[in-house]
Amino acid sequence: MYNFDKLVERKGTECMKWDFVEKIYGSADVIPLWIADMDFEVLPEIREALEKRAAHPTYGYTASAPAYRENIIKWNQERNGLTIEKEEIVPVPGVVTAIAFALNALTKEGDKVLINTPVYNPFASTIKGLNRELVTSSLKCEGHKRVMDLADMEEKMKDGVKMMILCNPHNPIGRVWTKEELSQLVDLCAKYNVYLFSDEIHSDIVYGGHKHCSALTVSEKAKEISIVAMAPSKTFNIAGLKSSMFIIQNPELREKVSASYNAFHVGVDLFAYKATEVAYGYGAKWVDELNEYLYENAKFVTEFCETQLPKVKTFVPEGTYLMWLDFSAYGLSQEDLMNKLKTEAKVGMNSGATYGDEGVGYARLNIGCPKFMLEQAMNQIKAAFEK
Ligand SMILES: Cc1ncc(COP(=O)(O)O)c(C=O)c1O
Repeated sequence: MYNFDKLVERKGTECMKWDFVEKIYGSADVIPLWIADMDFEVLPEIREALEKRAAHPTYGYTASAPAYRENIIKWNQERNGLTIEKEEIVPVPGVVTAIAFALNALTKEGDKVLINTPVYNPFASTIKGLNRELVTSSLKCEGHKRVMDLADMEEKMKDGVKMMILCNPHNPIGRVWTKEELSQLVDLCAKYNVYLFSDEIHSDIVYGGHKHCSALTVSEKAKEISIVAMAPSKTFNIAGLKSSMFIIQNPELREKVSASYNAFHVGVDLFAYKATEVAYGYGAKWVDELNEYLYENAKFVTEFCETQLPKVKTFVPEGTYLMWLDFSAYGLSQEDLMNKLKTEAKVGMNSGATYGDEGVGYARLNIGCPKFMLEQAMNQIKAAFEK
């Protein structure tokens, strides 16, 4: 059994979550439950492999070991039923980097790019930063569940969209899209010649009986039009190592994206390769236990709100370690809500408005931490909001 209850002192490691808490939230005693990394120790095998490699006194140009690709392939086959060939894996430092390169390779300035909002904010900033036209389609509410508004998306695609960027599973609303939902999306994209970029960085963090479905497993059509990016960074808490990968099964698409990428001479470093190889080779049990732990954390927060903070509406997500909390019943402006959270509750969360206008009234909570920290944070929120 791995110990996810252990408090790991992260201050003093230049980590964004803890070392920048005073700068961002104005006070050092704020519990930081914001940026999407976790407060757990990594899989011991990752640390051992990095220590061993770091002990060797040369760090020259380094290729990946054969086990790097072999372990990525085995992991995806066993956990997600996704069959990948070695040449379909293109290492890249980050998933947002991958989005930028795919946009660069497959669209041109002024082209329309569609996203579902609310969604992870660098989707919009990367599209706009590369001078593409941002087109948004709000997710529809079905109870607390959000679903894609396919009719609205079709209207937008008709109007000349070139690429759709999908968050699969979805940050911040915690949906793990089903095969049926993805099939409908793929059909729509294929009908209007829209490339589908599927960001699958959260694909390993699923629980409560939900199963990740890669866009690439939906159909032959999906393989032709999809660019998938995935990474061990969220799953294994190694975001600081910058290791991600494209999986592109259509050779023509892969060629185009790789050519654009190679022109910039960006690469993955030797520690990123090693950590990825070891994570996918030895991490299955760790991830299974992590998912159980996160599921319990999510249930705790949901139950806490239901029983002790009934004005705050939330739900157990299907995946990710991010929760979407609706504070709108308090009638506060977004600024006042975030101020109250940081100055009175002393909890550092992300403003829902960051992810799109649909997020006004909401805040995003990161539950990738020991449960006692969440308990403390929820009690502090209760004390501030229910006094
Ligand atoms: C959906 C999604 N994509 C990408 C990223 C960041 O990926 P990277 O650090 O590899 O660019 C995040 C981080 O929170 C995310 O939630």
